[in-house]
Amino acid sequence: MSWSNKVLHDKFFKQAKKAGYVSRAAFKLKEIQDKHKIISPGGFVLDLGCAPGAWLQVACQELGPRKRGGLVLGVDIQDVKIPQKFCDDRVRVLQGDARDLTPQMLREHGPQGFDAVLSDMLPPTTGHAEIDVERSAELASVALHIAVGYLFDKFEEERPPTDESGVLKAKGSLVMKIFEGSGTGEIVADARKYFEKISRVRPQATRKTSREFYLVCKSRKPAG
Ligand SMILES: C[S@@+](CC[C@H](N)C(=O)[O-])C[C@H]1O[C@@H](n2cnc3c(N)ncnc32)[C@H](O)[C@@H]1O
Repeated sequence: MSWSNKVLHDKFFKQAKKAGYVSRAAFKLKEIQDKHKIISPGGFVLDLGCAPGAWLQVACQELGPRKRGGLVLGVDIQDVKIPQKFCDDRVRVLQGDARDLTPQMLREHGPQGFDAVLSDMLPPTTGHAEIDVERSAELASVALHIAVGYLFDKFEEERPPTDESGVLKAKGSLVMKIFEGSGTGEIVADARKYFEKISRVRPQATRKTSREFYLVCKSRKPAG
């Protein structure tokens, strides 16, 4: 890590600690939210790859006062302890692989669907750029599939899609982390079919050496 990047990294790390967020990732979602207003007061939010829980904290804050209602449902392969600060009883977590989630499991928590699907899922990095990009693309495809029922060609044979419509409500938004590389354009093009507006965001809290960016997909088009 370069010196300037280390200073930036330390800055966000310290800020997160001081503010009571469990990770500096909080500032990534805050920046996306400030720019794109993904989460609405009282909304239903699905947070894929939620450990250690900074996005759960920010998402719950964005739901507004408890009386507004709403839900933040986090999913992670790892065990997640819901952070006490900024989270209330509207935050729930499921431990498991997002690739095994079924619409039925999600509808138990959000029977009417979700207003926002967030994916900060990151596969264990191998150090081989091509493999890391490919795995990140797979997780982004999973997020897209969960949100809109996207029939992903590449993985279709291995995991036949179980639902054609996805859990994201009409006009809802999807945010997904993607590693820049071959295949990125394909995911962006696929997402474009389902959303009115697509933007790329690289939040300030992102390490300079990271290939990651967030694809912010706003306003799901009506199905059909
Ligand atoms: C960068 S961290 C997420 C940080 C989180 N947004 C926060 O604010 O604390 C990436 C997470 O993705 C999770 N992950 C990776 N692959 C996953 C999968 N297939 N299903 C569910 N979670 C996954 C990892 O366990 C890890 O906790």
